[in-house]
Amino acid sequence: MSVHNVENTAPNLKKGYLDIEIDPTLDLFEEINKLKKEKNAVVLAHYYQEPDIQDVADYIGDSLGLAQNAAKTTADIIVFAGVHFMAETAKILNPNKKVLLPDLKAGCSLSDSCPPPLFKAFKDKHPEHIVISYINCSAGIKALSDIICTSSNAQLIVESLPKDQKIIFAPDKNLGGYINKKTGRDMLLWNGACMVHELFSLEKITRLKERNPGSKILAHPECEDAVLRIADFIGSTTQILKYATTDPTQTFIVATESGILHKMRYDSPNKTFIAAPPDNACACNDCPHMKLNTLEKLYLCMKYELPEITMDEDLRIAAKKPIDRMLEMSAQLGLGG
Ligand code: 13P
Ligand code: SF4
Repeated sequence: MSVHNVENTAPNLKKGYLDIEIDPTLDLFEEINKLKKEKNAVVLAHYYQEPDIQDVADYIGDSLGLAQNAAKTTADIIVFAGVHFMAETAKILNPNKKVLLPDLKAGCSLSDSCPPPLFKAFKDKHPEHIVISYINCSAGIKALSDIICTSSNAQLIVESLPKDQKIIFAPDKNLGGYINKKTGRDMLLWNGACMVHELFSLEKITRLKERNPGSKILAHPECEDAVLRIADFIGSTTQILKYATTDPTQTFIVATESGILHKMRYDSPNKTFIAAPPDNACACNDCPHMKLNTLEKLYLCMKYELPEITMDEDLRIAAKKPIDRMLEMSAQLGLGG
């Protein structure tokens, strides 16, 4: 079983589509909207995408919302402004649609921390355990899983299983540890993590909170336990956004990828949102993978319909089962993302 991706060059193009120069006078927003109509294409974007991409997208959401939207779209082409595992999930759910990712190199450190052959060996050592995998994993890991979850539904999915059910949770040890704490379970955790969420500095966040009396810390459960312990609210990107709009607090310190600040400031223009500082000299907490996508690449990808996500059918069928299970369970639990 293998995953293939169509290369950057189409037979009718003399050079890679990313090397094609774009006329600087073009209004890319207008062009992208035209291409959407002409090709019956939908642009799905994650909150971690750059502001321009969020502004031109048909739907912005967290991983659960994006998967739910990908499952029900009637578009012929899905343009996924996010990372590879997200576009791959859309392809798993839509074998007959064209799924495009503006930059094929947009990967994910968390997904990469769990290679399928190593995980298979680990799983084989624990035959009584079922596998719940966070959606931030490759199709190969999904195919080895019983249920997929996202940060929006992980706790409820785990709680819906019998208390004595033995569970392996992969690939994020921080989300898994957080769910263990919340549910009192003892899931076996794969030792994976996200490079962006592991970088936050407890000391710097604590100092920032001292300097901003009355502020609240919002954190994504991919953060390390030390950061989660001082957070006032922990949730997926959509849950963090909802909390920031409904809670009367005026100043929030946000411990997740900085792309989310665009929507937060749009939804609550009178509130102050401060990006939680990471433990390095550069004060940015951008995901280098998410930020590989740009408005220019989005335009080129829609114009030339490249690069496309394709997949071995056996792998797709095996990876779809646990995603379907998650979508069914989320619908029963009344969850959206
Ligand atoms: P959510 O979209 O589920 O909040 O996950 C965040 C993330 O890290 C996506 O890569
Ligand atoms: Fe992966 Fe982390 Fe980037 Fe999300 S923020 S895509 S988990 S590396």
